[in-house]
Amino acid sequence: MPSKLKTAIEFVKHIRTTGAINQTSKRTEEEITQQVVEHSKLVVEFGMGHGNITEKILSKLPADGRLFAFEVNSDFCKVVEESIDDDRLTIVNDSAANIAKYVDKDINNIISSMPLTMFSRELVSEIFKESFSLLKADGYFSQILYNKNSRDKFDQYFSIIDVTGIISFPPQFVYHCTDKVS
Ligand SMILES: C[S@@+](CC[C@H](N)C(=O)[O-])C[C@H]1O[C@@H](n2cnc3c(N)ncnc32)[C@H](O)[C@@H]1O
Repeated sequence: MPSKLKTAIEFVKHIRTTGAINQTSKRTEEEITQQVVEHSKLVVEFGMGHGNITEKILSKLPADGRLFAFEVNSDFCKVVEESIDDDRLTIVNDSAANIAKYVDKDINNIISSMPLTMFSRELVSEIFKESFSLLKADGYFSQILYNKNSRDKFDQYFSIIDVTGIISFPPQFVYHCTDKVS
């Protein structure tokens, strides 16, 4: 069976945690990793799934960079363990809310494709509070959402929020947030 179809079946089976029926499109992968640049030494991914964005991040990460990829589904973690062999990658089978247990500070980029709109307000606020404190002042928090009017989710944490729309099914919007509000 083609791997894309396998992934779609797994996503549908676990719709309550994936919030999606298929993998993010190539254009969205490109857009959400746009801020991973030469000086991005420490990158964190939230919601690794079957590792499509993970691979894109690794293709842009410097040779001495590190990537911590969080994923709550242990089967998804196994798929990526078997398909990506890269010493720069650490797969964390835990919730993004527990980021502080694994990463201490100075994160350049946080890249999230988690279905935030399905999370409780408390969980979103816990994830944002924890990540915000570990992100560098000039770091980027990039998030995929299906809605272009969600700046209010981020504006108490960041003063610059750029939104890029991607034509796909369903349409996706990538929020790039930076310039931490102190
Ligand atoms: C829409 S899928 C995205 C998968 C893949 N990155 C992509 O872009 O196609 C969202 C992923 O977030 C994971 N997830 C859900 N809640 C999470 C949490 N609290 N912490 C980490 N990952 C979570 C789900 O298991 C799922 O793999």
